Amino acid sequence: MNEKKILLTGANGLLGQKVCEIFRNETTHTLILTDIHHQPEISRDFEYFSMDITSKESVKDAVRKYNPDIIINTAAFTNVDACETERELSWKVNADAVKNLIIASRINNCRIIQISTDYIFDGKTGNYTEDSKPNPLSYYGKSKLAAENALISSGIDYVIVRTMILYGTGKNIRLNFALWIIDMLEKGRQIKIVDDQFGMPTIVDDLAWALVKIVNLNKTGIYHISGSEYLSRYDFAVRLAEIFKFDENLIVPIKTNELNQAAERPMNSSFVLLKAQTELGIKPLNVTEGLQLLKFQLEQIN
Ligand SMILES: NC(=O)c1ccc[n+]([C@@H]2O[C@H](COP(=O)([O-])OP(=O)(O)OC[C@H]3O[C@@H](n4cnc5c(N)ncnc54)[C@H](OP(=O)(O)O)[C@@H]3O)[C@@H](O)[C@H]2O)c1
Repeated sequence: MNEKKILLTGANGLLGQKVCEIFRNETTHTLILTDIHHQPEISRDFEYFSMDITSKESVKDAVRKYNPDIIINTAAFTNVDACETERELSWKVNADAVKNLIIASRINNCRIIQISTDYIFDGKTGNYTEDSKPNPLSYYGKSKLAAENALISSGIDYVIVRTMILYGTGKNIRLNFALWIIDMLEKGRQIKIVDDQFGMPTIVDDLAWALVKIVNLNKTGIYHISGSEYLSRYDFAVRLAEIFKFDENLIVPIKTNELNQAAERPMNSSFVLLKAQTELGIKPLNVTEGLQLLKFQLEQIN
C-alpha cells in the first residue's frame, strides 16, 4: 500500500486525537500534527507544531515545509450556539480557513479531507444522501456549507465527510454530548434532554476508521458517516444511563422550544449510509455498541 504523508489539523480535538491513535496503530502513514494549542495532547510519535489555520501564510508555510499528500482538516469552531454570537471568528475558522487550505494545497497538489456536518441540512425530511440539497438553519451550518462549496468549486482533489453527534473520549477535550450526560448523571444531577431532536450519534472511533478507509482507497467526493442507529437525544441519554447503570429518573424529556438554544437545530438529520457502507466497507456501530465501547475506554483510563 502507498504510504502517505498526512497533515492533520485540529489534532488536539476529539476527532483529531482519535485519528492520531488509529492511524498510528493501524496504518503506516506518517502524520504531522497541528492544532492552535502550543502543546500536543497525545501522540509523541508524530511531529507536532502549533498553527492557526486562519493564518493563510502559516498554512502555506506548513505545506511548503512538510509537502503532505493529504491534509485532514478536523479543526473547527464547533460550539454551535457560540457561532451565532461570535459570527466573525466562527466564519474565519470554519469557512475562510478552508479557503487557506485550498490555496496552500495548490502548492503541491495535495488532497484535502474536510470534516463537515449534518447541520448543513434543515432536518425537515431526514434520510439525507450525499446528493440531498443543503439548507442550513444555523450560522455554524452556513459556515460549514461555505467550506464545502469552496472545496467543490475549487477544482482540487477533495473529500467531504459529513458526520453528526460525535461522541467519545480523549485527553482534555471539550465535553461532547455523551461525556456531558455522564458527568451530570455521575454527580446525581437532573438533566433535561430534548425528545424531539433526532439523529444518528457517532462514536468517534467509527469516523476515524472511515477516514483510514478513505485514505487507503484514495477516495474523493462526499461521504455521510454516522452511527447506524436513529433515535432522539432523550432516548440516547436513557440508553446511556442503562449501560452505565445511572439513575434514569434523573433524565427529564423536554421539547426543543423550551430550551432556548441560540442556534436553530435540524429536528431530523438522519443520513443514508449506503454509499459509505458499500464503497468503504464500513459497518458503523449502533448506540448500544458505541456506548459499550465508550464505557470500556473510560474504564481503561480510570
Ligand atoms: N462534535 C460533533 O458533534 C460534530 C458533529 C458534526 C461535525 N463535526 C465536525 O467534526 C470535526 C471535528 O470535531 P471535534 O468534535 O473533534 O472538534 P473539537 O473537539 O472542537 O476539535 C477541534 C480542534 O480544532 C482546534 N481549533 C479551533 N480553532 C482553530 C484554529 N483557528 N486553528 C487550528 N486549530 C483550531 C480546537 O481548539 P479549541 O478547542 O481551543 O477551539 C480543537 O483542538 C469538525 O469539523 C466539526 O465541525 C463535529
